[in-house]
Amino acid sequence: MLGEYHIRERIRQEEIRQQVQKIARDIDSDYRDREPVLIGVLNGVFLFFADLVEALVIPVIIDFVRVASYGPRNVSSGKISFTKDVEVSVKGKPVIIVEDIIDTGLTLSFLVDHIKAREPESVKICALINKLERREKEVDIDYCGFTIEKGFLVGYGLDYNEQFRYLPYIGSLEMGHQSEESVHDN
Ligand code: PRP
Repeated sequence: MLGEYHIRERIRQEEIRQQVQKIARDIDSDYRDREPVLIGVLNGVFLFFADLVEALVIPVIIDFVRVASYGPRNVSSGKISFTKDVEVSVKGKPVIIVEDIIDTGLTLSFLVDHIKAREPESVKICALINKLERREKEVDIDYCGFTIEKGFLVGYGLDYNEQFRYLPYIGSLEMGHQSEESVHDN
């Protein structure tokens, strides 16, 4: 229990660490001698992004974006706007968008369109968690830590009303009836 909430551990700190290392090795080998621009999507990505960048051997450029969404999330990506846009130049450069979690896919599809309009050499997607149950827009994830079917996830950057981002593991916030869920590494 954390205060009035029950959080069930889903992904242990050590499992996260191992998957972050694995993603870093894959990026190291794909981007040798290329210095990609890593763009983190705030706020949820802060721990994953820092751990990933620390684990990489290759040099990278880093930047962040923050987006706000208005109205019903499942209508269109036109309801998403930036509260902080990309500041570094990505033109002609390899870009990797780094997300903590992909849920409906609307944020990512908005970001990919926005970044492609700036004419990068390439755009790849890196996400710690690919959560499937609410997907609206198909997204191709190039580097993925874990695929999770469902659940309200908190910890390791993920929040519930800004709480629980600090937890070193990923858990589900249990509210009332909870059905069976599955997690698997990628
Ligand atoms: C989360 C997450 C992604 C987005 C994914 O951010 O970090 O950016 O939602 O959801 P989607 O696939 O349904 O678009 P959130 O808006 O909760 O903000 P936060 O990162 O500050 O927690």
